[in-house]
Amino acid sequence: MTEFTLPKNSKIGKGKRFAAPTGASKVRSFKIYRWNPDDGQNPRTDTYEVDLAKCGPMVLDALIKIKNEIDPTLTFRRSCREGICGSCAMNIDGTNTLACICAIDDCKKSEVPIYPLPHMPVVKDLVPDLTHFYAQHASIRPWIRTQSAPPPDRERLQSPEERKQLDGLYECILCACCSTACPSYWWNGDRYLGPAILLQAYRWIADSRDEDTGARLDDLEDPFKLYRCHTILNCTRTCPKGLNPAKAIAEIKKLMLLRKGT
Ligand code: SF4
Ligand code: SF4
Ligand code: FES
Repeated sequence: MTEFTLPKNSKIGKGKRFAAPTGASKVRSFKIYRWNPDDGQNPRTDTYEVDLAKCGPMVLDALIKIKNEIDPTLTFRRSCREGICGSCAMNIDGTNTLACICAIDDCKKSEVPIYPLPHMPVVKDLVPDLTHFYAQHASIRPWIRTQSAPPPDRERLQSPEERKQLDGLYECILCACCSTACPSYWWNGDRYLGPAILLQAYRWIADSRDEDTGARLDDLEDPFKLYRCHTILNCTRTCPKGLNPAKAIAEIKKLMLLRKGT
């Protein structure tokens, strides 16, 4: 796969402007990052004027309208259209969020800027390359790990209280908005796991059915994987699902201290 990160000091060029159709009654502009690995050109931003009177309310609706009616070359990911799959994560109006649950009316800038998730290699236009992010997720072995034999006649059960421990964790859709908003992840993402993967790591540590907590903590006891979090809280501020990855990271650090007896 061709990968692209903006070279230092390179400028994003000004691209084309696509005017609203004659007779448009409620025009809003979207300034969108464009880069095509196959045309040999530098990145640019193209500006599209959209008639909101004939468009759904969310930024993803505008992107789909642009692709369907104005410029079919615009490339972005989406699937569920209801904040569940995480694939439409991008930087909109200065914030990492999900395009499908971001209302156009809530965007502050008159010309709404839309960029791919920051500090990730770009595949094309608004599509980031999440290969490393997913490899980091796989590295925590995100499934229930047990040593005891399962009950012969039923699943491994949880009490309602035990299940409650997973609230605020299981809802994570791995959209990467938090990790790509974290300065520590920007600079050390090769080794620092970042807030999304650490929240996922804690999700399995907190699961009463998991029997591998010691090994999970051993894996995280590393100057880079966990301890690059400096509690800047960008992650929690940006999570479009209202989760708190910084708290999950703090819980892991607390468990580390507890087992050291301090
Ligand atoms: S914690 Fe929130 S922002 Fe981070 S990956 Fe999960 S859902 Fe996305
Ligand atoms: S709290 Fe930690 S993980 Fe969250 S943005 Fe700050 S450094 Fe990154
Ligand atoms: S399209 Fe699935 S979260 Fe936006």
